[in-house]
Amino acid sequence: MQTTFLPPSSFSAAAAIPDMASYEALCAFAERDYQGYWGKLARENLAWRVPFTRVLDESNAPFFKWFDDGKLNVSYNCLDRNLENGNGGKTAIIFEADDGAVTSITYKELHAKVCKLANGLRARGIAKGDRVVLYMSMSIEAVVAMQACARIGATHSVVFGGFSARALHERIADAGAVAVITADEQLRGGKRLPLKSIVDEALALGGCECVRNVIVYRRTGGNVKHAAPRDIWLHDLMDGQSDVCEPEWVNAEHPLFILYTSGSTGKPKGVQHASGGYLLWTALTMKWTFDIKPDDVYWCTADIGWVTGHSYITYGPTVAGATQVIFEGVPTWPDAGRFWETIEKHKVSIFYTAPTAIRSLIKACETDPKVHPKNYDLSSLRLLGSVGEPINPEAWMWYYRNVGQERCPIIDTFWQTETGGHMITPLPGATPMVPGSCTLPLPGIMAAIVDEAGQDVPNGQGGILVVKRPWPSMIRTIWNDADRFRASYFPEELGGYYLAGDGAIRNKDTGYFTITGRIDDVLNVSGHRMGTMEIESALVAHPLVAEAAVVGKPDATTGESICAFVVLKQARPEGDAAKALAAELRNWVAKEIGPIAKPKEIRFGDNLPKTRSGKIMRRLLRVLAKGESVTQDVSTLENPAILEQLAKAL
Ligand code: WT7
Repeated sequence: MQTTFLPPSSFSAAAAIPDMASYEALCAFAERDYQGYWGKLARENLAWRVPFTRVLDESNAPFFKWFDDGKLNVSYNCLDRNLENGNGGKTAIIFEADDGAVTSITYKELHAKVCKLANGLRARGIAKGDRVVLYMSMSIEAVVAMQACARIGATHSVVFGGFSARALHERIADAGAVAVITADEQLRGGKRLPLKSIVDEALALGGCECVRNVIVYRRTGGNVKHAAPRDIWLHDLMDGQSDVCEPEWVNAEHPLFILYTSGSTGKPKGVQHASGGYLLWTALTMKWTFDIKPDDVYWCTADIGWVTGHSYITYGPTVAGATQVIFEGVPTWPDAGRFWETIEKHKVSIFYTAPTAIRSLIKACETDPKVHPKNYDLSSLRLLGSVGEPINPEAWMWYYRNVGQERCPIIDTFWQTETGGHMITPLPGATPMVPGSCTLPLPGIMAAIVDEAGQDVPNGQGGILVVKRPWPSMIRTIWNDADRFRASYFPEELGGYYLAGDGAIRNKDTGYFTITGRIDDVLNVSGHRMGTMEIESALVAHPLVAEAAVVGKPDATTGESICAFVVLKQARPEGDAAKALAAELRNWVAKEIGPIAKPKEIRFGDNLPKTRSGKIMRRLLRVLAKGESVTQDVSTLENPAILEQLAKAL
């Protein structure tokens, strides 16, 4: 028996989808007439400059096209439409800075800023189809920059501000960006961290000659180098520009953005999203999953460097005409009550965060009772959300009781960079909730669990999570690598189904989905997606490292942590020498990729456990990382003695 929590009836009464019958009716519509369903929603929810006549084109599967003879502009839908609807004076963004300073901006003001920057970008020769990389921290300007790109049809690629110069360089070069938009510095937890100087470093690595503009937002006033004419201040670029800017009307399939994410190989994948289908799903999920209402104050704590920030900060809330909080800082500064204080301060009604943050705040109030949510007025909250990784039932219960005060439904939203928006999630007014389960697919999302041959498995039996039919906000391709797109997401043995890369199981009685974790070499550390190969490549780039294997280890706070097994080109160090080298290698990885990729643990061995054909047996390393003893069959292992050497932490 699963413990079930029903949506409060007062919530259901006003909800966009008020009960399971309404949910099922939408699902049945999609089953009966897939194209009719999506076509109707796209006509009702978006403003089209040129109406589409085709809904879904499957002729070149898996390169699906949605609404592709229709024309629209994403920024027009997010901004101008709000002005036309009488929402111009409504607050679009409440910016809560790291130090607690608040700036807010109305839809009319946001629209004006976006138009000015869009005109400025055009004045610099940036046009439809050009790629623009953003390397910024959380700010109103980051949203303005993304929307300005969308307005002129430039394809943005946001790189998380915690990535290293090398990681940034790789993404700029792969995207062939003509411009980089950055800030002088960022502020996090009272500290100033560089941005512009990292851009300089990345561009100096060579191969980025495509970049002709570096546009710098002055956040802190910190000292930065200025290479004219390439470099220009954002305010100088916007100054004197008109606050009217005719949008570039693009085809629905026009690439809105590329966002790099980790896969099974060392090279990050540039996930390419389209304009029309993507915007449709962000708009719909704002209504269905977030049940957004005109008076809501919505707060998603994600960073714009991840897909959550794209779909549920830059695009979803604006296309929905919502008021949202954007937060620059960190959840634990000046203390671990910052989230609750901010909810109280801005009367947040919808709060969306990651399980890692919840778990770390649970821990924090065990040592410092002052920061417990009960010390804050959280009565404004009506809905809570979770995203990025599985939420364990204990964290779910704590969130439900202490933050939502048993009054707020929790939406555990399963989705991915590639899916563009929510896929499997409770509907807050309709779905009975079960802690630890993301429950059921949204209407029109044909999620299923199959075996390795693509055959359905019965409920109660685990398998591979797939989506059987294309959906509007799905990934269109991997930038510069269509073959990898096909091989990664539409492997032949699955007969045309989209492969999510996660394992899952459905409950025997309810059919509810529970995600059991990645089935590939992808780790999820604090909700950040990391490829084991990326970290291994960074390690072997160190002059002393001969070979490395990285595995995930379950972690009570971060979900998973990174454990690296390393073979050196020199004798295996022991004692303090081993500890010192481990520290050096951890910092090396942080410098190569970014602090989020720093291994929590490093162990040294004379070799790695390998099969006779030379394949590293990672499943054994996963067992060792957990501190368990190997009970599996090791008869195929070339060098069983090595296991003992790798079993102990430093
Ligand atoms: C991977 C995608 C979701 C957008 C931000 C992360 C895991 C995500 C859940 C959830 C269990 C989840 C999956 C997925 N994941 N949400 N609610 N329950 N697992 O996007 O970086 O592309 O990561 O995050 O493993 O494949 P991403």
